[in-house]
Amino acid sequence: MPSGYDPAAVTRRTVTAHYGRHGDVCARIRDALPAVGGDPDRPTFDALHRLDQFHIGGPSATRELAEAAGLRGGAVLDLGCGVGGPARMLAQEYGCTVTGVDLTESSCASARTLSAWVGLDARTRFVCASVDALPFASGTWPWAWSQHAIMTIPDTPRMYAEIARVLRPGGVFVHHDVVAGRGGAPFFPVPWASEPAGSYLQPPQALRDQMEAAGLVCRAWTDLTEAVRERTAQKEAARAAGTPEAPGPHLVQGPGFDAMRANLARNLREWRVGVVRGVWVRPA
Ligand SMILES: C[S@@+](CC[C@H](N)C(=O)[O-])C[C@H]1O[C@@H](n2cnc3c(N)ncnc32)[C@H](O)[C@@H]1O
Repeated sequence: MPSGYDPAAVTRRTVTAHYGRHGDVCARIRDALPAVGGDPDRPTFDALHRLDQFHIGGPSATRELAEAAGLRGGAVLDLGCGVGGPARMLAQEYGCTVTGVDLTESSCASARTLSAWVGLDARTRFVCASVDALPFASGTWPWAWSQHAIMTIPDTPRMYAEIARVLRPGGVFVHHDVVAGRGGAPFFPVPWASEPAGSYLQPPQALRDQMEAAGLVCRAWTDLTEAVRERTAQKEAARAAGTPEAPGPHLVQGPGFDAMRANLARNLREWRVGVVRGVWVRPA
């Protein structure tokens, strides 16, 4: 190992290179707006939210997560917020004020631009930081939220310890994650990593153990794999039959996304990856 080797810096470079590869995401989204009934000169939340959420299940999964948590307003910390799609949805539809945290500076910049486009910049803000070293005071947040961020985070115990630290007593952590499945190693590239070296999938029980070790208490846990497999298989069959695909975030993901999507579908089909949702509380 070369002297001065810093694994955290290597991970940071891998993650930011991967998620920064989209180039000008705002320009891609603007170009895709007509496909979802939007006007590039006057973007609205209704059109934008079909293009800016980068997780399995899209906007419906975000709403299901909010409902599972009983979210009705309040200050939310969104960990690994990407370009801010879920943050804007929580602000617009659930009356929240949302602070998004993301390691990729270009994603934070895009998130700020997109929020300004649809008039949600006063209720969403975006901070470039790592979720395992949060720049916030202890015991301050009523809600922490995370969708599809942990797949590239090697030190999830530290991330959960940070979440438990910044949540106020009685505060709630809600998450929606891709996990390792029982079918063997996944095929790459996938939407979160071009090669195995950038991916840190863990079995669901390992995550549960880590959250418990951080002092969080499970209020709800749902394995979504079966439902996601079924939906993905239907979409793949429709695509193979030549049925035109409903417009969605794939329009802005750039070249190479088709291979990632095909591998994700195969990994789900062969139980190589799974999807879970959880709601945890920091005891009062
Ligand atoms: C698949 S995207 C999901 C974005 C968003 N949650 C959504 O659902 O639309 C994962 C995001 O996690 C971010 N991320 C990965 N590791 C991180 C870390 N250690 N700290 C903060 N953000 C991180 C990436 O930069 C990327 O924007």
